[in-house]
Amino acid sequence: MTTPYRGGFAPVSEEITAFDLPVTGRIPAELNGRYLRNGPNPLNLDDPSAAHLFLGEGMVHGVRLRDGRAEWYRNRWVRNAATARRLGEEPRPGPVHDDFDLAANTHVIGHAGRTFATVEVGARPYELTYELDTVGPCDFGGTLPGGYAAHTKLDPHTGELHAIAYYFGWDHHQHVVLDPQGRVSRTVDIPVADAPMVHDLALTQRYVVIYDLPVTFSMDHAAKGAPLPYSWNDDHPARIGLLPKDGGEVRWLEVEPCWIFHTLNAYDDGDQVVIDAVRYPKRFVDARLDLGGMPTLDRFTLDLASGKVSESRLDDRAQEFPRADERLTSLPYRYGYAATADDYLDVIFAGDTEMEDLPDAAFGNALIKHDLLRGVQETRTFARGAAVGEPVFVAARAGAAEDDGYVVAFVNDPGRGATDLVILSAQDFTGEPVATVHLPARVPLGFHGSWVADAEGS
Ligand SMILES: [Fe+2]
Repeated sequence: MTTPYRGGFAPVSEEITAFDLPVTGRIPAELNGRYLRNGPNPLNLDDPSAAHLFLGEGMVHGVRLRDGRAEWYRNRWVRNAATARRLGEEPRPGPVHDDFDLAANTHVIGHAGRTFATVEVGARPYELTYELDTVGPCDFGGTLPGGYAAHTKLDPHTGELHAIAYYFGWDHHQHVVLDPQGRVSRTVDIPVADAPMVHDLALTQRYVVIYDLPVTFSMDHAAKGAPLPYSWNDDHPARIGLLPKDGGEVRWLEVEPCWIFHTLNAYDDGDQVVIDAVRYPKRFVDARLDLGGMPTLDRFTLDLASGKVSESRLDDRAQEFPRADERLTSLPYRYGYAATADDYLDVIFAGDTEMEDLPDAAFGNALIKHDLLRGVQETRTFARGAAVGEPVFVAARAGAAEDDGYVVAFVNDPGRGATDLVILSAQDFTGEPVATVHLPARVPLGFHGSWVADAEGS
């Protein structure tokens, strides 16, 4: 099989620290903090883990902005025990769940003044220092019973961080709530059949939304040596669960079979729950990344009175990595941002087979801004090879209106052979960037990131 770590996903081999980066434009002085992004970056492409895009060792890239300057860029492998040893270092001590020790490669978040690289399938997060060095595996001070999750959702009203953990050795998913101090304040076990994969969740003011979709752990594929033995399962129902945030039973509503990696946002609307997400018609057929069809941005409307779910298409163009203004997580909202890139289409969407219906090449590397109220989009396209990553929204200031802020993303500059951190004005999405920070190296395409603002007064 061709390695998935090709094109924009080709790994880098060095850890770099660079200060006072060159900038075109003007970095907004109110952006004090770090833009962080995680992704798989195998140490050795001959390793079995390098055969699968989801299994390469995590590498976190960070850019610190302060007082209008780009103070530093750093990239660091996340050191689980094996990675530390291979780098000639001692493993960091810490609590690993069930001997399942992954170099967390999927997301990087800030919570309670700390930095965590996250991953799923039963492993725990790795805590990082402010400068992205690995502290060790983390169970939140002994409060996390099992593994954790790659994706989390912060309730903007309570400051609680919600996640859904899963593990092939469990007969349930586990809803995990972290309090604003970074300790698990409660967990709820949710029985599920067939050990499904669950990558993301959604949050409304009333509910935690749980996806139970037909991609399940496959003993057959595990026995055949599949590196990530989860596979499309026609016998598993497709349903969405509503777990009341204040306790009670999960209510399940059936949906058409599909796969969802990522939620854009969700909210309550009277007797309805609205969930906007990127939907695939199928996924992981035969435990491979490919063969599912293109992902589209869809709206699921759950009618609580009738128990029926209706679906509508918000955008039929292939896209992924949807993000919204996180101050509006779980609340009615208007704007969303998403990305598409040739290399995602090639590696993530089409896997190792040819797909005939790849979208228009002109739409190959683009960021999309959705105005869900008007039902229109703005599309900002980039050059071939730009390998544009997930867009993250950063509010201009506390109390700013929705969309009054910046959209930041890593964009490769093929001419320079290195990556820029591009800071767009969300309200001038296709205009000149507010600022472009020129990094000294290429940042491979990866998965998810966060803007982690510095604490006041630091
Ligand atoms: Fe994800």
